[in-house]
Amino acid sequence: MNQMQEFDNVKAHLEDIGQSHILQFQDKINPEQGLSLLNQVKNLDFSRIPTWVEKYVLNDGSLKVPEHFDPAPSWPPVPKTAEQAEKYAKAVQIGENLIRQGKVAGFVVAGGQGTRLGFDGPKGNYPISPIKKKTLFRIFAENLLAASKKYGTTIPFYIMTSPLNHNATVEIFESADYYGLGKENVVIFQQGTLPNFGFNGKILLADKHKIATSPDGHGGSLKALYQSGAVADMKKRGVRYLSYWQVDNPLIHPIDPLFVGLHVADNAEMSSKALLKTGPLEKVGNFCLVDGKVTVIEYSDLPDEAAHRKTEDGSLAFELGSIGIHIISVSFIEKLNADGDFALPFHRAVKKIPHIDKNGNAIEPDEPNGIKLETFVFDAIPMAAHSIILQTRREEEFAPVKNAAGVDSAEVTHQMMIDRAADWLEKAGITVPRKPDDTPDCTLEIAPSFALTADDVKPKTDEIPELTPGCIIYLE
Ligand code: UTP
Repeated sequence: MNQMQEFDNVKAHLEDIGQSHILQFQDKINPEQGLSLLNQVKNLDFSRIPTWVEKYVLNDGSLKVPEHFDPAPSWPPVPKTAEQAEKYAKAVQIGENLIRQGKVAGFVVAGGQGTRLGFDGPKGNYPISPIKKKTLFRIFAENLLAASKKYGTTIPFYIMTSPLNHNATVEIFESADYYGLGKENVVIFQQGTLPNFGFNGKILLADKHKIATSPDGHGGSLKALYQSGAVADMKKRGVRYLSYWQVDNPLIHPIDPLFVGLHVADNAEMSSKALLKTGPLEKVGNFCLVDGKVTVIEYSDLPDEAAHRKTEDGSLAFELGSIGIHIISVSFIEKLNADGDFALPFHRAVKKIPHIDKNGNAIEPDEPNGIKLETFVFDAIPMAAHSIILQTRREEEFAPVKNAAGVDSAEVTHQMMIDRAADWLEKAGITVPRKPDDTPDCTLEIAPSFALTADDVKPKTDEIPELTPGCIIYLE
């Protein structure tokens, strides 16, 4: 079939779903561009697009808040009773054994657009550590390397990218020689994309031969892990549990025996770490219980009354915030994908989407002009037979770099990295000089090779020089 015939062929299908305008510049593109456009069209989900348009573009059919929901139960950051202490000790043992046996891998989702930070290139390449300016990717890789050494194993690193940053990410890892992890232990794969729509339900064109698309959200990871062959790779290696985190959080404990152990001891399929919210309206998802299943309700969807509700002891009833840290069983990912029809619900985002108009002129909108569809990984939690939540502490494990300035900016993260290092040193009995406002009066950076947790510092105190006001100390 020549290209003309192929165009005629797909045009009929596009007409059926009201999207034939995609080929409107067919006569104005060269054969190579034509081939590319045909491939993009063939990859569209023809059977589903009309439903998406009706449900999510022309209407807001995002999931509605269920009528009944309760706060979700969770494990505290440290045990509160003797019984819990016993449970935690056992869980740590289980977790450590599984890590030693090479059954736990690291998985970072790094396919996002990072528009708020506005950094040129993949966000994982953002230099963030206080002294050495290590990038996020380097910090994660060094963590996995140090954990591999600590537990006498090899912990593979899976990284999800998107077409926006895949090649750049691969280049970064290659030129850093995979940060010492070994090329064979780093698996970089791409997530899927979804077309962008105008408010009228028509798919937007980024160029005459290019459909406007965006990554399908971090929820896309559950499909991409399977379709890319990453799950098959895990099975070959004997990996059974994935430690999932987001690319913007350098405080993450990528390999946490307690979290793995509780997940396994409680027969969970997908588990989460949670934070106590800073207030009723903090902009994080809320862990709830719906029909006995752990479910995340977004802050924007949580009714005001529920957000402000208090328990008898004065704490918030819905106090647990979701922070994008999970353990996911590999068997759960396989189960979800078993029938080939797995789909998470869509969330609708009204956005400014650059595109070309019907005359082929490029438009950079000042106002939102269309809809992007996204899936969220936490929407898979209610699909798990069991799920646990482990609380963690913000200062210990959550400092996302989201914005160029202000809340969740690099400046805040940077300070939190210093604060955590100071806290770890003090827990080991080291005196840290502090300013009148109690922040450390020094710049500190602890390399993962030195310590992965506060406990790792204690046996190494004699390697730590005296900290004087204003000092700059890097420990490795
Ligand atoms: P964010 O919600 O912070 O989105 O992603 P973002 O796209 O990175 O940044 P903004 O909103 O444009 O500023 C949370 C995590 O999910 C990943 C991101 O890379 C980040 O680790 N993510 C997000 C994906 O991997 N794919 C996506 O499609 C979306």
